[in-house]
Amino acid sequence: MKTTRGRFLTLEGVDGAGKSTHLEWAAEHLRQLGIPVLLTREPGGTPLGERLREILLSTPMALETEALLMFAARCEHLRTTIEPALAQGTWVVCDRFTDASFAYQGAGRELGTARIKALQQWVHPNLQPDRTWLFDLDLGTARQRMTGSRDLDRFEREDAAFFTRTRGAYHQLAQNEPSRFLVIDASQSIEAIRDELGVDLDRLARSSSIS
Ligand SMILES: Nc1ncnc2c1ncn2[C@@H]1O[C@H](COP(=O)(O)OP(=O)(O)OP(=O)(O)O)[C@@H](O)[C@H]1O
Ligand SMILES: [Mg+2]
Repeated sequence: MKTTRGRFLTLEGVDGAGKSTHLEWAAEHLRQLGIPVLLTREPGGTPLGERLREILLSTPMALETEALLMFAARCEHLRTTIEPALAQGTWVVCDRFTDASFAYQGAGRELGTARIKALQQWVHPNLQPDRTWLFDLDLGTARQRMTGSRDLDRFEREDAAFFTRTRGAYHQLAQNEPSRFLVIDASQSIEAIRDELGVDLDRLARSSSIS
């Protein structure tokens, strides 16, 4: 019997927008629908990737190095974890993916879209998320949510201009691919956002069972 490929769902948005808050809930919602789910994150998701994550979030480095390490971690994640899971019919829910490289390294760090595209072409020319939730939030609210909840990492300590470039790039990505993206007004309550996400997950699950 041929196994249907799993769906690939990613969560994106600026730091503090609320991605991690909804991750476990989204996985549980899918499991309730009888769907096998793998929950993971980037950078990270593998033992090597988690070591690279630690370095990426704490160590100053050249912007090219940062982009390359992000994609090194991603390559390991794809080959050892994401691709095998999708192939056996498991849905993968991932906290950040390549859109974050376009937003953070491409726009935030101003490395440019072309370089990130080249890395994407190399590491995953044929794989895109089936669905991407973009948690959209203004700087003031994002900062408020981050402060007090934890120590800030290398990206979270960046200035307002960096934040504006990153958020703007996410808007552009969503505009370029409106059918892949669901843009969520992340200033709403957690419950209101969950209602929206639940409707989307139910729709995704339905469309996948008839395809
Ligand atoms: N809709 C919401 N309303 C109010 N507070 C929220 C909402 N969503 C998340 N929060 C709170 O904001 C903080 C940041 O949320 P979370 O860690 O989920 O963000 P994130 O997008 O994963 O950030 P990062 O990119 O830094 O990992 C947490 O303390 C969380 O409880
Ligand atoms: Mg998070």
